[in-house]
Amino acid sequence: MLPKAELHVHLEGTLEPEDLVRFAARNRVELPWQSAEQLRAAYTFTGLENFLSVYFQGCRVLRTREDFRELTLAYLQRAAGQGVRRAEMLFGPQAFLDHGIPVDDQVGGITDAIAEARETHGIDGALLVSAHRHRNEADALELLELVRPWRDRVLGAGLGGAERGNPPAKFARYFAAARAEGYRTTCHAGEEGPAAYVAEALEECRVERIDHGYAAAEHPDLVARLAGDQVTLTMCPLSNLRLHVTDDLTTYPLKRLMDAGVPVTVNSDDPAYFGGYVNENYAAVTEALGLTETEVKTLARNSFSGSFAHPEEVRSLVEELTGS
Ligand code: ADE
Ligand code: ZN
Repeated sequence: MLPKAELHVHLEGTLEPEDLVRFAARNRVELPWQSAEQLRAAYTFTGLENFLSVYFQGCRVLRTREDFRELTLAYLQRAAGQGVRRAEMLFGPQAFLDHGIPVDDQVGGITDAIAEARETHGIDGALLVSAHRHRNEADALELLELVRPWRDRVLGAGLGGAERGNPPAKFARYFAAARAEGYRTTCHAGEEGPAAYVAEALEECRVERIDHGYAAAEHPDLVARLAGDQVTLTMCPLSNLRLHVTDDLTTYPLKRLMDAGVPVTVNSDDPAYFGGYVNENYAAVTEALGLTETEVKTLARNSFSGSFAHPEEVRSLVEELTGS
């Protein structure tokens, strides 16, 4: 129950099989799976793109403002139960816009749940919209237009989706536009893609945070730069295992990066698909890498200092952790 922040979780990836089946029935959406058990059995992935095809099928069951509210509330309740004080949640409206679901229903349902969870569970939720990199930059720029009416309820902008062949630089103008509108910025890089994508996200897109950053570990110059500039990496060990980014957590570079001074954090990515929420991810790396209690606390501290929360809030969260 160590107090912590979760900085890298896709709301769509928190859709548990039971809820997926329930939403499908309620919204009369046909699925290739008949039950939650069948769904779970289908969750073996050959890589990121194979995973994304299943994930986007799952997204088809979310249709109404109430669906988005329930999804978000269920995640925030569960996260609060794992000691998460602050959750910065990525969400990709483009898949739902394709199905004719208005942005108002998507963001409205999510932000209703954020307000409710703050009251009921004492957790501070924040929303980051995420563009799909396998689409074009014009679509990403259009996404910023579409969420503009909700500008005060959306904290940041990110980039996810199929990484290989879709370098960050393809979205340099998207990130420039996001920054000009005052959004905080983060970019998936170095998950399946090369370390060069991490450097590119920093140099060409000037993002504040890197989601994953796994590939950077093999490049000493880049590691030194991440440490020097104190760029937070939001790493996701169970995701990386399930998507074959790594085949063995005993060689996972998280501790090496931490020892080199990079502010690394531990996160769940798509917990309903990868077999664990944030605490299961902490437990997996703690066991595989033999982390000490002090190192685990450093990870939790990094999650607060790397968050996009107001500095006052960061300070009070770090104080709570230090006293724990
Ligand atoms: N969207 C949801 N999960 C993702 C991941 N692991 N990488 C890129 N985009 C994603
Ligand atoms: Zn992710």
